[in-house]
Amino acid sequence: MIEIQDLRKIYNKDKKNPTEALRGVSLTIEDGEMVAVCGTSGAGKSTLLYCIAGLEDYDAGVCKVDGVEIRAMKNRTAAAFRNEKYGFVLQDFALIDDYTVLENVTLPFAFGKHVSGKDTELAMEVIRRVGLEEQKNSYVKELSGGQKQRTAIARALINKPRIIFADEPTGALDSKTTQEIMQLFAELNADGITMVIVTHDSTVAGYCKRRLQVEDGLIVSDKRCCGCP
Ligand SMILES: Nc1ncnc2c1ncn2[C@@H]1O[C@H](COP(=O)(O)OP(=O)(O)O)[C@@H](O)[C@H]1O
Ligand SMILES: [Mg+2]
Repeated sequence: MIEIQDLRKIYNKDKKNPTEALRGVSLTIEDGEMVAVCGTSGAGKSTLLYCIAGLEDYDAGVCKVDGVEIRAMKNRTAAAFRNEKYGFVLQDFALIDDYTVLENVTLPFAFGKHVSGKDTELAMEVIRRVGLEEQKNSYVKELSGGQKQRTAIARALINKPRIIFADEPTGALDSKTTQEIMQLFAELNADGITMVIVTHDSTVAGYCKRRLQVEDGLIVSDKRCCGCP
């Protein structure tokens, strides 16, 4: 469960041009929810996501994940916490173009050690899950946008995360591919993974049973519906 109370974030706090990106956000997200964080550019969506995910520090308020205050964690502990619980999916995929799909997906294992047969087996499991078995030895630079995003999702799944944070995951994709990726997200959510998806695309929000609207650093609406696109 994610519990946020009166979260505030100011960029450039001690400089001439401070920006209040979050101005007192309170929010609870239960396990298993699929939440769209909507709003115009500059509203504070990414900041909110990164504060919850522990990638960005905040200036005031409380942010707890499974009862643990994110900010109280020291860097190494925070990194371990993130690895264990979170998967990240970003707009620009953040893949290595000259590596194959399989190499990109096993990347979290590859840092500083040999990738074992068991790691490869696990990677193949998530590659199959996202429908890329035939492309496993293709270089990322040869893939379509949708296939790249599937690769990034497979990599996000490798640590069996309980929460996936996605920041504009379909921002670089056409509408048909957007629907395919959202269908995959909906399936992962049905498997029990909590999904928090930042978007300004109403198609994406349409797949989410809960829709938050962020404006000027505040949540201005919080709606629940059937989740049918
Ligand atoms: N690293 C940063 N340094 C200074 N200002 C930032 C930084 N990141 C975001 N901001 C500012 O904070 C506000 C919210 O940004 P952001 O969370 O990225 O919005 P969104 O994701 O909704 O487009 C904007 O005014 C933006 O310019
Ligand atoms: Mg953003």
